[in-house]
Amino acid sequence: MIESPQGRPPVKGIVLAGGSATRLRPLTGALSKQLLPVYDKPMIYYPLSVLMLGGIRDILIISSSQHLDMFQAMLGDGSRIGVNITYAEQERPRGIADAFRIGAGHIGTDRVALVLGDNVFHGPGFSAVLNNSIDRLDGCELFGYPVKSPERYGVAEIDAAGRLLSIEEKPRRPRSNLAVTGLYFYDNDVVELAKDLTPSARDELEITDINLAYLAQGRARLTELGRGFAWLDMGTHDSLLQAGQYVQLLEQRQGERIACIEEIALRMGFIDADTCYLLGKELDASSYGNYLMDVATRFAASALG
Ligand code: G1P
Repeated sequence: MIESPQGRPPVKGIVLAGGSATRLRPLTGALSKQLLPVYDKPMIYYPLSVLMLGGIRDILIISSSQHLDMFQAMLGDGSRIGVNITYAEQERPRGIADAFRIGAGHIGTDRVALVLGDNVFHGPGFSAVLNNSIDRLDGCELFGYPVKSPERYGVAEIDAAGRLLSIEEKPRRPRSNLAVTGLYFYDNDVVELAKDLTPSARDELEITDINLAYLAQGRARLTELGRGFAWLDMGTHDSLLQAGQYVQLLEQRQGERIACIEEIALRMGFIDADTCYLLGKELDASSYGNYLMDVATRFAASALG
């Protein structure tokens, strides 16, 4: 059993990494989209790092049967980075809310964070944003991000005080430019709510229907991720390349890696500096491995000093 920060009631994590990603063909002919490279690391490192930054260490990865082995080969049971990773199959893409049906056993009686396997979140103070949302979680916590094409997303409408007024899935006439991002925190009621859902016109169990149920109870809140923050999804060749270029630019300029799960494990106290160093040493033919060794060495020195 892995402890959660400061005795907080546990929050289980789910990364939804299913789908057939037909818009990314031929890249996804044999490979899972969420294993494609986003500059220097596989895509799934980015959503995994989000959960880890929220102190979440019990994580279920959901993917299609033909891809699960590859995730497992890459991440194993997670113990190397101090987390517990399990796997479950989604037979066919039935919508995001299907994650709570598949993951019901994993969630048990706990709260849950769901993150989409193709979402990148990056910005200052994000860890504090995550932890505030978890601390105040009473129902559902969503994250909004202004986009140029809101009609492609779930769209949130808020009032001047930031209170959530409405959510619409892919509205033809969006009431705002605030997209609901692919990161969701729920209390345990989500398991029952998901059981009762019926598929939408596009034959999916809609996450927006879950969010609307919480909204109707007055228990849905949204945090705006505004200027200076990056929320990227990677459904097309261009957005995949752009995400890679974003990561490359920041990493090369600052010399710090984004979504480096081993470094996050170290900084979150999930592993010690020696372990981090050894994880880097295994990859020492790559700049990623050398970065890990360097981070571990500096971390150990600052802990001593
Ligand atoms: C899904 C959700 C939508 C959300 C989006 C975030 O859209 O249905 O509400 O804004 O993820 O990426 P889909 O990927 O199913 O088009």
